[in-house]
Amino acid sequence: MNNFSLLILPGDGIGPEVMKQVVRVIDWFEQRREILFDVEEDLVGGCAYDKYGTPLSDLTMKKAKSVDAVLLGAVGGPTYEKLDFDKQPERGLLRLRKEMDLYANLRPAQCFDALADFSSLKKDIVSGLDIMIVRELTSGIYFGEPRGIEGQGENRVGINTTRYTTDEIRRVARSAFELARKRNNMLCSMEKANVMESGVLWREEVKYVHENEYPDVKLSHMYADAGAMQLVRWPKQFDVIVTDNLFGDILSDCAAMLTGSLGMLPSASIGSKMESGLPKALYEPVHGSAPDIAGLGEANPCACILSFAMALRYSFSKRDEATLLEKAVQNVLAEGYRTKDLMQASDGKLVSTFEMGDAIINNLEKMR
Ligand code: IPM
Ligand code: MG
Repeated sequence: MNNFSLLILPGDGIGPEVMKQVVRVIDWFEQRREILFDVEEDLVGGCAYDKYGTPLSDLTMKKAKSVDAVLLGAVGGPTYEKLDFDKQPERGLLRLRKEMDLYANLRPAQCFDALADFSSLKKDIVSGLDIMIVRELTSGIYFGEPRGIEGQGENRVGINTTRYTTDEIRRVARSAFELARKRNNMLCSMEKANVMESGVLWREEVKYVHENEYPDVKLSHMYADAGAMQLVRWPKQFDVIVTDNLFGDILSDCAAMLTGSLGMLPSASIGSKMESGLPKALYEPVHGSAPDIAGLGEANPCACILSFAMALRYSFSKRDEATLLEKAVQNVLAEGYRTKDLMQASDGKLVSTFEMGDAIINNLEKMR
């Protein structure tokens, strides 16, 4: 298969600028590798609200469900913060995740050699770090009922519910075990089984899947708070981590920062297989919309480009091409190309978003 459809949703803030570089990379693969992409672009987040009065229109939702994969830039910005909850840019993203049922969110935290000095931790603790957090993405406290704000005046109550079914836990556990098998065969499951029943069930079901389907994978369990502590103490003890939606949100930010460069980290959100045999999938950088630098041409396009590399690997089974693209990014970093976020005094050559895209494409050309 060499022909795929893509829906590109650049979104807000720096989303459109970094996505432009991804489009150039996509063109390169079309021309040099003869993988053809049928690309359509649309709006999500604040820009969708400005145009349609909603952060994700029904039509865009329908398109997202019909394509082979969705690429998303970033959503959000200060002008939208005062909107009603259901109109906020983030709701567009959450709707995509929920309605596409993208239950497994893969967040690699990889420390690039050229950037090991950037971490707030000592270099030997992070250099060579390569862990994968698998965050459950369509359930838990993000979506559980009841939810809301009840009552009046000084007697109001804010309510959210953590709720997990057996099936929801087992399917994300399977995704994590599968990944572990392709890596170093170790999985650590994190919850708060000491205080939460949903955590007790989580631990029981992960154990069940382990015993019955993946006994060869080395499984451990940790309370999520201890996990956070271990992540900053000695992150290299981990290979794959699987955890619920809220803990995964927090732990993955923590893991991302270990690498010292949020601008480098991609993510994939994967659901069940479609009729085509490809999984439902959405790829997005871990960084946000960074409104303070939007439009300045300073943003780092690497995370978004690496998200496309994840699409090549996990959606289109183009592993060699994914590796090639990842290699190109590593090479340009090693050669000293630095967007502003990666600059440290007297280290490397400051480049713009576009120039970083150039450097990566030139490197692809060199390796061709
Ligand atoms: C993330 C973000 C989102 C989340 C926000 C933007 C809704 O923090 O993808 O980690 O909380 O899931
Ligand atoms: Mg987050």
